[in-house]
Amino acid sequence: MATVRPFARIALFLTVAGMGALLADGAAAQARDIGKYEFDTYCALCHGKDAKGGGPFSGLVNKKVPDLTVLSKNNGGVFPFEMAYETISGAKETAAHGTREMPIWGDHYKEKAPQDLGPYFAGSDVSSYVRGKILALVGYISTLQVK
Ligand code: HEC
Repeated sequence: MATVRPFARIALFLTVAGMGALLADGAAAQARDIGKYEFDTYCALCHGKDAKGGGPFSGLVNKKVPDLTVLSKNNGGVFPFEMAYETISGAKETAAHGTREMPIWGDHYKEKAPQDLGPYFAGSDVSSYVRGKILALVGYISTLQVK
């Protein structure tokens, strides 16, 4: 398991914390957890709603779908933020050998941006939109970790 540079991790966490504050500010009445919503919509198919790897599509991929609740446990008690982020975005090759079974979500969100942003799309920064979605997912997964 690659070690995560502490500084990068702190910087990313600060970004998430900042986004959280913004969201809380801008939408006080919003009950929906974006990370959970995205996870249940796109990831639960394979990883399962409980993230333990037993989703309805898990039998259809050529690899065992990993349990996402033990990422910290398997990384000396520290949530592997960069690994999770890069695996989801597609920056990190997941498989050392063979094919990648995990879809590249960075591309998915890039394609979805015009539809999601609607009238705000023109002039908006698509890479920030994509980063926001991935950070929300990583943030949500980090809350599911077992001790
Ligand atoms: C088509 C099934 C499928 C879907 C849908 C899917 N994954 Fe995965 N995921 C996998 C598989 C299989 C792996 C194991 C790595 C590989 O071989 O590609 C994996 C690996 C991962 C890992 C790395 C875990 C580790 O222990 O290395 C993370 C994090 C992850 N997925 C998050 C997500 C998120 C977040 C979503 C939704 C946006 C998602 N996955 C959707 C199949 C899927």
